[in-house]
Amino acid sequence: MKTKTLLIAAFSGLISLSLMTSCGGGQQTSTETTTQVEQTAGPSAEQMVRGEQLYNEKCIACHQANGQGLPNVFPTLTGSDFLLNQTKMAVAQVINGSEKVAGQTAIKYPAPMPPQVDNYEDAVAVINYVLNNFDNNGGFITVDEVKDIEIDPR
Ligand code: HEC
Repeated sequence: MKTKTLLIAAFSGLISLSLMTSCGGGQQTSTETTTQVEQTAGPSAEQMVRGEQLYNEKCIACHQANGQGLPNVFPTLTGSDFLLNQTKMAVAQVINGSEKVAGQTAIKYPAPMPPQVDNYEDAVAVINYVLNNFDNNGGFITVDEVKDIEIDPR
């Protein structure tokens, strides 16, 4: 009994010792990596899940499951200059609709895009989702970057 306890104590001591040594050197590097990842990673997994959910709930009816829209009725989201280069305006459009957002001409399409969501988090999530799907290869926008967009009263 006593020997067993001693053995366990010695063993766990050995484990914690080896844990300490293995962490010791590596610790600093792993902290640095984490900081770097936070700065460059872009949208979180949760945000992409939310974005996909919103897309399937709201956007799919017009922009279709493949994001290609319908010729002359709903624009494709693949390689959209507006989406890729005026991303903040695209967020504003998802919130307030295309009639409201400067630079978008509903004239090209039979009807404008109606407002889709009423908050920054959802608008950013769905735009980040679209930016990283349908052969659009990445980019993202943060909620902080769009907080000065005025949300029209519903
Ligand atoms: C009722 C149909 C409809 C729905 C639903 C819809 N859109 Fe649109 N969308 C349009 C139309 C029409 C345009 C073109 C508007 C214009 O140019 O005035 C457009 C344009 C866009 C554009 C700009 C594309 C370009 O190059 O002009 C983006 C980005 C976009 N929509 C994203 C979304 C997202 C994201 C959702 C879902 C949250 C969504 N749309 C829901 C009809 C819709």
